[in-house]
Amino acid sequence: MNRRGFVSLLLGGGILGWLGAVLYPIISYLNPPKVPEANVQTVKAGSASDFPKNTAQIVKFGRKPVILIKTNNDEFLAFAATCTHLDCIVQYRGDLKQIWCACHNGLYDLKGRNISGPPPKPLDEYAVNIVEDEIHISEMG
Ligand code: FES
Repeated sequence: MNRRGFVSLLLGGGILGWLGAVLYPIISYLNPPKVPEANVQTVKAGSASDFPKNTAQIVKFGRKPVILIKTNNDEFLAFAATCTHLDCIVQYRGDLKQIWCACHNGLYDLKGRNISGPPPKPLDEYAVNIVEDEIHISEMG
């Protein structure tokens, strides 16, 4: 190989390298890797025995808020905490034993059924299981 051929080879390699360095990020940007949606199956929500009766907590289930209620009978209930009217976060009213939405005074019973006010649909229910005193919330199967 003469000197001219050697320089051409170097230049050709340099151009190829430069093209790769420029094109790779562009192609990667245009074709991003698939990131799976947060697909939560079960969430642990602390100790069942430490949870006070007739109270509730809002628990994150993936990106969705869930209202976890412990009744006076030590029964655990969980529902989607997003009001079916205009998406406010509901809260538990221990005095009424009902789920209340402060935004427009919507009420749900402890089966998640919309019983008063503007909410058009019931709240989705979640399954609650206690495993060695740990509260496990999962989607209804
Ligand atoms: S957003 Fe809940 S009652 Fe309107």
